[in-house]
Amino acid sequence: MLNRLRRRYRDVLASIYLFNEHRGYSSLDRVLTAVRLRHPEAGVFIAAIEKHRADERRHYLMFRGWFERQGRMPLAVDKSCAHIDRMIRLTFGCDIDGLDTARVVADGALFAQLCRVIVLTEQRGVRQVDKLLGMDVVTSDRALRRIFRIIERDEPSHWQPYDGWLRVRGEDRARLSERLADWWVHKSLILFKLPWLFLNPALGRRTQWQDAAEKPA
Ligand SMILES: [Fe+2]
Ligand SMILES: [Fe+2]
Repeated sequence: MLNRLRRRYRDVLASIYLFNEHRGYSSLDRVLTAVRLRHPEAGVFIAAIEKHRADERRHYLMFRGWFERQGRMPLAVDKSCAHIDRMIRLTFGCDIDGLDTARVVADGALFAQLCRVIVLTEQRGVRQVDKLLGMDVVTSDRALRRIFRIIERDEPSHWQPYDGWLRVRGEDRARLSERLADWWVHKSLILFKLPWLFLNPALGRRTQWQDAAEKPA
């Protein structure tokens, strides 16, 4: 019984991460297109975003592999579980799909806001991974522990480039509303969303991988 509950917890957790990693790299594709166009001179920054995108894609594939090795598809969680989606909704008033990234990148203040949202989301990710690596239910699964160790190693390089971009422009201090959004998204995921998914017997599984229709990058 206890083992079944632990398996269920890992199943929910990995499904949420898989969704978030995919959301992360597919959104960064749009940011990259806009930054290359608007700031072609920012070669180092562009290279850092490209690395960030490649890392999130690799993280996605690690979770996908974790499910594949068990012969199971992930649970069908949706964007209400995606930290970045909910942050964008609370700070920009639309979800990622509705965000006009070209317009945002072209506007200094809006782009700074987007960079701060990315920094807050990634820093939250660092703290969360540290907590997960202290939990026996996670670390007792060797493959999952390895995945989270790799994420832990990669994560700082994800927020630092955006923070650097903001610092140079004196825009790095997150607004109170942005901090509150980050706090609320995190708390609601941990206190309500995750337990609900864990306990919901009607939660089905995906029938296709998120990247099934994507061309290999
Ligand atoms: Fe990631
Ligand atoms: Fe990340």
